[in-house]
Amino acid sequence: MNRQLLLLFTFYVLVSSIQAIDFTYCGQYDEENFPLKVQQIKIIPDPVVTGKPAIFNISAVTDRSVSGGKVMIEVRYFGIRVHSETHDICEEVSCPIEAGNFVLSHAETLPGYTPPGVYTLKMKMIGKNGYQLTCFSFKFKIGFGALVSES
Ligand SMILES: *[C@@H]1O[C@H](CO)[C@@H](O)[C@H](O)[C@H]1NC(C)=O
Repeated sequence: MNRQLLLLFTFYVLVSSIQAIDFTYCGQYDEENFPLKVQQIKIIPDPVVTGKPAIFNISAVTDRSVSGGKVMIEVRYFGIRVHSETHDICEEVSCPIEAGNFVLSHAETLPGYTPPGVYTLKMKMIGKNGYQLTCFSFKFKIGFGALVSES
């Protein structure tokens, strides 16, 4: 029983470490400067399928409650901006966000002609008062659409 649990646990750790996505905070800022820190990023599915919805779940922790603001998203391909959008924070997580842990769930459907490859997504969050809550970027992969997903 204990052995099985251990195996299960090991498997879980292995799987979740494979899914962990590396990210970096933007520009000259480091983790210390932002009131909102990222803990984990999940991309579903990974790789993303072009023309189909993808979900980016950002687990984060905030040192203050957030009553609103904006989420700015930029997608780059070989350094070139191919997509950008701005949302109300409260569309992606229920507001107000209390101080502590929360998950921001961003759904995105990239157009069907988006070529497969490695993309960079930058996410910036600005509080109601214009204060930058966080800014970070991470890479995600777009796979070959129907060729893979319909099999
Ligand atoms: C992504 O976040 C949403 C909202 O919190 C949650 O319902 C969903 O289960 C999450 N998905 C994964 C795979 O963590």
